[in-house]
Amino acid sequence: MEIRAVTNNHRAWSGDVLVFGVFSGDLPTYVLEMDREVLGDTIAELVAENKFKGEVNSAVGGRVGGNSPIKKVMLVGLGDPAKATTDTWRRAAAQAVRWANQARCKTMALSFPLFNADADLTAQILAEGAILTAHQDKRFKSKPKEEDKEKNEPSLETIEILESQAQAAIERAKVICNGVILARELVSAPANVVTPAKLAETAQEIAKTYPDRFTVEILEREQCQALGMGAFLGVAQASDLEPKFIHLTYKQGDNPTKLAIIGKGLTFDSGGLNLKTGNSGIETMKMDMAGAAATLGCAQVIGALNPPNLEVHFIIAACENMISGRAIHPGDILTASNGKTIEVNNTDAEGRLTLADALVFADRLEPKAIVDLATLTGACIVALGESIGGLWSTDDELAQKIETSAKLAGEKFWRMPLEEPYFEGMKSMIADFKNAGGRYGGAITAALFLKQFVEKTTAWAHLDVAGPVWTEKESGYNNPGGTGYPVRTLVNWVLSMAA
Ligand code: BES
Ligand code: MN
Ligand code: ZN
Repeated sequence: MEIRAVTNNHRAWSGDVLVFGVFSGDLPTYVLEMDREVLGDTIAELVAENKFKGEVNSAVGGRVGGNSPIKKVMLVGLGDPAKATTDTWRRAAAQAVRWANQARCKTMALSFPLFNADADLTAQILAEGAILTAHQDKRFKSKPKEEDKEKNEPSLETIEILESQAQAAIERAKVICNGVILARELVSAPANVVTPAKLAETAQEIAKTYPDRFTVEILEREQCQALGMGAFLGVAQASDLEPKFIHLTYKQGDNPTKLAIIGKGLTFDSGGLNLKTGNSGIETMKMDMAGAAATLGCAQVIGALNPPNLEVHFIIAACENMISGRAIHPGDILTASNGKTIEVNNTDAEGRLTLADALVFADRLEPKAIVDLATLTGACIVALGESIGGLWSTDDELAQKIETSAKLAGEKFWRMPLEEPYFEGMKSMIADFKNAGGRYGGAITAALFLKQFVEKTTAWAHLDVAGPVWTEKESGYNNPGGTGYPVRTLVNWVLSMAA
């Protein structure tokens, strides 16, 4: 499927489906005129029959009679312009793509009002919505029979954004979507495919694609041991797969702003000896590396965009949380690389143990800011639901930058408190502290645990993305499986920090 900007308007286009994005209320004059003069009042009929009012998530479409140069026409509601966000356009593009494929259209034109009077951003978000909707993950399906191909394959071949010169913005959308799709596919692939070694290879491939921009180092078990990463290695020790500590560095410019992004990279989380039981979602725990996937997705996009004056460290402590005779016992005490001792009262609170050593590693690089992202707690999903991530930060300016980046990306975050008194619940009789607190405020105590490993860096943010990285249902521009969240937020944030 190809997307391009074309300068002609809706009157000078011919093809399978013309889509108008319209706000709620009366249809604009140019739509009404087009309908009367070219479309034989098809739109007026569709609107009346379906009581279409231009609300968000509403759409109508149908066949144009006679021998019109336009075979089908569709209206997609954008709702109240005062409430519009970038995601309104992405989701509208998603509706158009889904409808066009259902109607077996090959060519589609989008005639949309500008978002925020910004032609480049409008083209970018329409293209993002279309590309992400069109992405279907068929890697693990057997090849369809030749005769079934026609009905299984999406029909759309070209999308033209009308009255637009924003081809560069569309190319940018393609680059960003490639990063989102990389993350989606890493998350959706099962744990027997995406192993710690596979994550390491992915980082190496990114570095190889842009050798002038990246360096990469993969620390093996022995090297992690030498660095005293007892928390990370404790989690990894029951698995038959070798852990990989991934350090991918992007660098451009002589006096760059130094940043670190850390992604939780559990390629499978069985819970360990505190084994996940029925209804705990163990069968989807291949997605426990979604933080790592988004970290790599972001790295790929940053490599392709090649922004100046930045040094970004992408860090992943990748392993599996398994059971075997070598597994950590509940109650074992692990020593992290900053010397702190941890009583593992729950082996299923493993993400924070791997992140502990990754945070210490990042902290020693003395970056201006550290952002970690992790499918860290079920408690965060209980608190914020499936589509909103949790955001904790020691620095208001960093938190605001992430909130702004997320808003532009159409990815939702809600700031949560670092409520220090709750750390009481992690007190240990025998070690410095435990790795898990009680049932209440579980996402907050997890964040407080991580904070113990950030000692020098004053600007640190933790993103708990357990909910939004995965979806069982098709929704907006997401298809079932990994969503690629929050690659776009990370990219926007990194770009906003360029010196
Ligand atoms: N990977 C899970 C968190 C998770 C749950 C992610 C559901 C996605 C969907 C994490 O390692 C975990 O098991 N957390 C425990 C912590 C508890 C033992 C303190 C949890 O949330 O139950
Ligand atoms: Mn767990
Ligand atoms: Zn986990």
